[in-house]
Amino acid sequence: MPTSTRVLVTGGAGFIGSAVCRMLVGAGNSVLNVDRLSYAANLASLDSIAASPLYAFRQANIADAAAIEALLTRFEPTALIHLAAETHVDRSITDPGNFIDANVVGTFRLLEAVRAYLATLAPSARDAFRFVHVSTDEVYGSLGPTGRFHEGTPYHPSSPYAASKAAADHLALAWQRTYGLPVVVSNCSNNFGPFQFPEKLIPLAILNAIERRPIRLYGDGTNIRDWLYVDDHARALVMLCEKGVPGEKYNFGGDAERSNLAVVETICACLDMNFPHNAPHRALITFVADRPGHDYRYAIDSGKVRKQLGWHPHAAFDEQIAQTVQWYVAHPDWWRPLRERYAGGRLGVLERGDGAGGRG
Ligand SMILES: NC(=O)c1ccc[n+]([C@@H]2O[C@H](COP(=O)([O-])OP(=O)(O)OC[C@H]3O[C@@H](n4cnc5c(N)ncnc54)[C@H](O)[C@@H]3O)[C@@H](O)[C@H]2O)c1
Repeated sequence: MPTSTRVLVTGGAGFIGSAVCRMLVGAGNSVLNVDRLSYAANLASLDSIAASPLYAFRQANIADAAAIEALLTRFEPTALIHLAAETHVDRSITDPGNFIDANVVGTFRLLEAVRAYLATLAPSARDAFRFVHVSTDEVYGSLGPTGRFHEGTPYHPSSPYAASKAAADHLALAWQRTYGLPVVVSNCSNNFGPFQFPEKLIPLAILNAIERRPIRLYGDGTNIRDWLYVDDHARALVMLCEKGVPGEKYNFGGDAERSNLAVVETICACLDMNFPHNAPHRALITFVADRPGHDYRYAIDSGKVRKQLGWHPHAAFDEQIAQTVQWYVAHPDWWRPLRERYAGGRLGVLERGDGAGGRG
């Protein structure tokens, strides 16, 4: 991107947002990271850029329209990458209201704040601006054993998280059609890599294995996800700031479908090889009752972005999962404080009689 680029990143203290901030600043762009610092945020993920004159952080809730409008006016961004969200499916089952507030109402207020900001810009600056709305493949619901999600796949969300993201996608695209906001939407598959809060499958499995605690797998562990290394996603989002066409949706995936059991077994094998223990790490795997509404399979068809943007994943799953395991082993200073916030107990279990209609 041109070096005059100023990007406002929402949710930049989270897993993917911090990767986006590091990448943008590393490439010479100015970044304003706006994050409300929920339980999932960690400013330590931004230590490597915190002192850069190109980087600034402001603590704010995207639903606070006045605060966001003031930040937009002062920072004068040329693009915005919207990642701020509540993101953990299990937490959305227990506490869906937080997801509606952050993901639906928050996105609505952010769109309105950006609409007001764009009205103050010259037409050429308005035309060049991009609002990159970051969504997930979970909005499409569950696949059977075959097929892949493409940009035209109808939305069929299963969890409160997925439904809140789907609602936000509809708002973002409606603001493009009705008000001409230069919105592009990305729908991406599961990410993995360093700096991910240890409530999601991969970091939780790694840390439980390191600490010799049970590694829980839902159901029989056969649910399949399509894994993408986080820097490949960050690169995709930066690319959309430059090349995304307003009103378009773009699907990004890693072409790395793995069952949850296979992912956890790979993690255990990496630990066995590099940090052997007297019992193999896979002995820690424990199967527990399935997640309510658990989608069976996600897989992304990235044909559009390969053709139109020239994007493809650089990272190979097996190499990067080994690197990710090594990273967590080497960075207890990063994750220990987070384990104190969340020690890994089961979330998202329904009360007895609270009906669950799982499809997977
Ligand atoms: N992690 C994945 O595998 C994945 C895959 C596809 C899409 N996504 C999407 O990418 C985005 C980032 O995901 P992540 O995994 O980095 O999430 P994360 O939970 O690690 O980080 C989310 C960040 O958003 C901030 N936030 C939450 N609500 C906010 C609010 N109201 N105002 C300001 N900040 C707020 C949190 O403090 C946190 O720092 C999300 O929109 C998610 O839906 C994630």
